[in-house]
Amino acid sequence: MKTIITYGTFDLFHQGHYNILKRAKEQGDYLIVGVTGEQYDIERGKLNVSQTIAERIENIRRTGLADKIITEEYEGQKISDIKKYHVDVFVIGSDWRGKFDFLKEHCEVLYLERTKDISSTMLRNKEISNIQFGIAGSGRIAERFVPESKYVSGCNIRGVYSRNIKNASKFCNKFELEFCTDDYEELVDKCDVIYIATPHKLHYQMTKSALKKGKHVLCEKPITLNSNQLIELYEIADKKKLVLMEGIKTAYSPGFNRLIDLAKFEVIGKICHIDATFTKLENKSNREFDFEQAGGSVNELASYPLLVVEKLLGKPKAISYNSIYENNVDIFTKINLEYEDAFATLKVGLGVKSEGDLVISGTKGYIYVFAPWWKTQEFEVRRENRNLNKKYFIQFDGDGLRYEISEFMKLINCKKKESWMLSRSNSINIVKVIEDFSRLNIQNMHN
Ligand code: CTP
Repeated sequence: MKTIITYGTFDLFHQGHYNILKRAKEQGDYLIVGVTGEQYDIERGKLNVSQTIAERIENIRRTGLADKIITEEYEGQKISDIKKYHVDVFVIGSDWRGKFDFLKEHCEVLYLERTKDISSTMLRNKEISNIQFGIAGSGRIAERFVPESKYVSGCNIRGVYSRNIKNASKFCNKFELEFCTDDYEELVDKCDVIYIATPHKLHYQMTKSALKKGKHVLCEKPITLNSNQLIELYEIADKKKLVLMEGIKTAYSPGFNRLIDLAKFEVIGKICHIDATFTKLENKSNREFDFEQAGGSVNELASYPLLVVEKLLGKPKAISYNSIYENNVDIFTKINLEYEDAFATLKVGLGVKSEGDLVISGTKGYIYVFAPWWKTQEFEVRRENRNLNKKYFIQFDGDGLRYEISEFMKLINCKKKESWMLSRSNSINIVKVIEDFSRLNIQNMHN
């Protein structure tokens, strides 16, 4: 018996897929089709696959051509599969010519001519409308946004706004955008959606103005510094049937979601304590150190560790803070949260440096997330008996903004108002803590 194997994502099954499976089958007696798993697709940068693995497998099954369907979960699996299934011929489309020659020491490698003028990417692009983004702000985060957007199909950055036209023009030239402006309303009028990456205090007005003009908004965290304002913005978004999503990039990353799933699944038993630290030494002349511009460690960084406690422990019953100040700005703050049967200690700092790790402690063990935990990639479930420890590694690509952009685009395309990865109530609860801290701060300053 001659065994053939071939692999692919097989998203939105099309004629090209059918042709290659048919011709692969003709090469032998038994055809194995490897379908890439969802996690593996994300790891290799395919963020836009439309169909679930179950749907993709079902489409292949329906052709009646595959004798066996397997899933491909990791890079390098092909060699094991070839050995395990005693494969004689590895078949793949001509777009991969030469790329799998190294498999020749294990079996015959055959590149078959690709069917012209059809691909999953083409079909997905037809499904997804091209969305014209306008960027408000030309600072560091906006600079990272543009290269990351290239990984998400359908996302086109059209123009940039900055109140300083020189900065806008520099940004526009650097990233070869269509236009730049120092008039925010012009940006809003010319684009379908707005990404807001301006200083905190400008978020509310800019978001409101874009929503009122019927534009979807992706806004950097925290969207507002006041929970009532945030609720008001969500109400406007609802009335206008628009997406308003908060850009806490960690929330949308595959590693972080895997971590949350594991912790919620009680792999370490009942969660009793969370210790999360995020510090980032900033230049003291930056706006992050300016009280008037809502600077400070909590405003700037607390959204990240608060995301963890919000996801795992929910609403706290008591909160207290310890801070070190310089010019009325907290350069380091410890947030102590109390729950019914648990505690959390969150540390954020712009003027103090510490280890950026995360420890989730439970009754059966703890999860140690290596720094920088907010770019969640590597973590270990540790137990009393070290032999039972288990390490996890989930790829976090680039700056991670691609996961956030991809989710935002999905919400727009599927006409959904909020993401399960960071719900509106998650965002509101997070901002409530930030607001509470600011209120206490101002009270203390007046005493
Ligand atoms: N294939 C083909 N002819 C096409 C498209 C795909 O022969 N027009 C082959 C590929 O070479 C591969 C298999 O079908 O051997 C599965 O490819 P896959 O990557 O899933 O399909 P694409 O349409 O190329 O997907 P994408 O656009 O996402 O790369």
